Amino acid sequence: MLKGMIKGIHHITGAVVNGQRDYDFYTKVMAFRMIKRTVNHEVGHLWHFFYGDYEGHAGTIMTNMLFDGIPLRNYQRGRGSIDALAYSIPKGSTPYWIQRLGDAGYSTTPRPDRFGDKVTHFRDPGGLDSELIECGDDPRVTTPFAGLDASNIVRGFHSATLISRIPELTLGFFVMGLGFEVVGQQGNRTRLAVNGGGPGKIIDILDEPNLPWGMFGLGAIHHIAFTVESVEAMRKVWGVLGGAGMILTDLRDRKWFHSTYLTEPGGINIEFSNLDPGFTVDEPLESLGTALQLPKQWADDRERIESLLPPMQW
Ligand SMILES: [Fe+2]
Repeated sequence: MLKGMIKGIHHITGAVVNGQRDYDFYTKVMAFRMIKRTVNHEVGHLWHFFYGDYEGHAGTIMTNMLFDGIPLRNYQRGRGSIDALAYSIPKGSTPYWIQRLGDAGYSTTPRPDRFGDKVTHFRDPGGLDSELIECGDDPRVTTPFAGLDASNIVRGFHSATLISRIPELTLGFFVMGLGFEVVGQQGNRTRLAVNGGGPGKIIDILDEPNLPWGMFGLGAIHHIAFTVESVEAMRKVWGVLGGAGMILTDLRDRKWFHSTYLTEPGGINIEFSNLDPGFTVDEPLESLGTALQLPKQWADDRERIESLLPPMQW
């Protein structure tokens, strides 16, 4: 239905607690750049951090909603959730990352090779299940910074693994709805790709019929966003999926891009986001992420929000 309209992963968002540990981990251990220091779209006095490559390209953007002080239960793995996000690292860089994560106090676990690629699992400080996948065919060029050289740098997302409540419906949603193609099968894992495939354009669906339904909470990967090129294309996505009976939110102005959300038929939260106007709409490229930038709905409430936000050491 939407063949050619979905370009790849735009961003992935987790629900975690403790902004300081989050910031320190992503900027100092993962060596991502903070590209937007902002707050939750719904609750203005909670942090929301965006990390990515130097320019904040779609496909590199990891965002975490920080629920400091909010009594949320913990995430429980299960059907209807995003099981893990995966980053693409250069071939041969796994030992470097095991050492780097270990030196920072994070344990790593090797996972079985996945479609021929080496996989290493770790959890971020908020408990998000994360993986590093060695990838020899990632064409993305990432500007090295924060002391990492190009032979080790994370080049953005590789993929995400979804555990559907009803895998055949999730498969149908991605293939017939969004134009993904099935490109591989390994055990209970089905690999889908879009827009020519390759890292940043891959989704894996796990068939885990004996797992209970997953429960959202702290440590959950809340949603995955996919890139569509323009607001006009998003309207088309909205119209086609809405016409097929799916329930999408309205088209929301997220200041740096536009978004619409739905829960696909297997229970996974999906977002569609475009690229305009981009992260430099409210601060220059060289100082991205160094000052609080409020979403439009909180713009007039800066003083109160600044007084309520948990303190941070940047
Ligand atoms: Fe999002």
